[in-house]
Amino acid sequence: MHSTFDSSLYSSRRKKLADLLGPNGVAVIPTANEQPRNRDSDYLFRHDSYFYYLTGFTEPNALLVLFANGESTLFCQPKDLEREIWDGYRLGPDSVPKTLGITRGCSIQDMEHELPLLLENKNSLWYPFSIHKGLSQRIEGWLRSVQAKVRTGVAAPQQLRDVCGLLDEMRLIKDPAEILLMKKAAEISAQGHIRAMQFCSSSIKQNIDLREYHLDAELLYEFRRQGSEYPAYASIVASGSNACVLHYRADKAPIRNGDLVLIDAGCEFASYAGDITRTFPANGKFSKAQRALYDVVLESQYAAVSATRPGALFTDPHNAALRVLAKGLLDLGILRTDEHGSVDDVIEHKHYFPYYMHRTSHWLGMDVHDCGAYTEPGKNESGKAVSSRVLKQGMALTIEPGLYIRPAPHIPPEFHNIGIRIEDDAIVTNESCELISRSVPVDPAEIERLMS
Ligand code: GLY
Ligand code: MN
Ligand code: MN
Repeated sequence: MHSTFDSSLYSSRRKKLADLLGPNGVAVIPTANEQPRNRDSDYLFRHDSYFYYLTGFTEPNALLVLFANGESTLFCQPKDLEREIWDGYRLGPDSVPKTLGITRGCSIQDMEHELPLLLENKNSLWYPFSIHKGLSQRIEGWLRSVQAKVRTGVAAPQQLRDVCGLLDEMRLIKDPAEILLMKKAAEISAQGHIRAMQFCSSSIKQNIDLREYHLDAELLYEFRRQGSEYPAYASIVASGSNACVLHYRADKAPIRNGDLVLIDAGCEFASYAGDITRTFPANGKFSKAQRALYDVVLESQYAAVSATRPGALFTDPHNAALRVLAKGLLDLGILRTDEHGSVDDVIEHKHYFPYYMHRTSHWLGMDVHDCGAYTEPGKNESGKAVSSRVLKQGMALTIEPGLYIRPAPHIPPEFHNIGIRIEDDAIVTNESCELISRSVPVDPAEIERLMS
């Protein structure tokens, strides 16, 4: 742990969760499992976000038990000089209370014996459902150990409940410490985009063989140079028609003079994700057709940004973007008024769908597609959600409209194979929203200037 580590933030989150567990409730929250990659190599370990949110602890093989009275136990790796020589420093159970502010530290090696004792005479048992493979079987095993003692007067928890529901609501509203980290993640991500854009146009101008992975390398260089641990998700660097493949990766396709390049990349900084998309001309100058489509997407993003404010619905930015995109598709002749009707018809009958098939926003936070229900809590009599989520100050979401034009006989050929997305990260403020990723420009003239 850092010597500057401040446990008070995590303690206050644990307190908040403890108050929601009900009388005598208990929560069991493990970190992520280590994942084998091949033979004896593991994937780089990434802690579980729920666990980290409550502990700030990044070692593998750890599990938090939190009680309704606010006390907590952390199971973690024991000190072990030999293992620490190979794998690195371990905090160890004895340092848990002082460093993490958690009531008690316990060796993970004693967990199978100790954990059932902590469940004795508890009411609801909360744990993350369907997140950790095998966890529910382990919970059952621990419960069996408790139940084996009922004749001695011990009671076992009677209710199993999903702790994610509680944590999702907490994580949906970012606290000031989180917003600071998100701004840093977005800023570094933006710098990575700028670096990749400038490298792209200068390589094209020098006639250098340029591949998508070269731009991926530029992104990664900037992320790591500025202290990001890793990209928040696999970077998309798509040249030309590859931009029409939504989950394309940075591969080895050449980037040619005249192509558009779509980069969707963000870094993870101190566990928080940036998520930015920019689409730019490889040579630094938009063609007429590229610019016409780009302007539609940009206008739709502006409309979505204006609709992102407290009191609006989560779906409002999407609907605002759709209207602009639908009108643009008609204006550019990709859809036809005589065949597809008005903007309202295009929206009602989803005629835009072949060209815009994803939603405009998702929650953003520690996870790039962050947790949090997209509907308001509560259901009507038929079990349906009452409404889309009402936006509140402190919520964080992306705003990322796009257009993807695959070739078809009825589409003007100059638009064929153009894919454009513009994605920024927004924090809902007290009256509107703040875009935290705009250090990399979206205005086409500014992009051209940046790349000249
Ligand atoms: N990069 C993933 C997304 O934009 O949703
Ligand atoms: Mn996104
Ligand atoms: Mn993205």
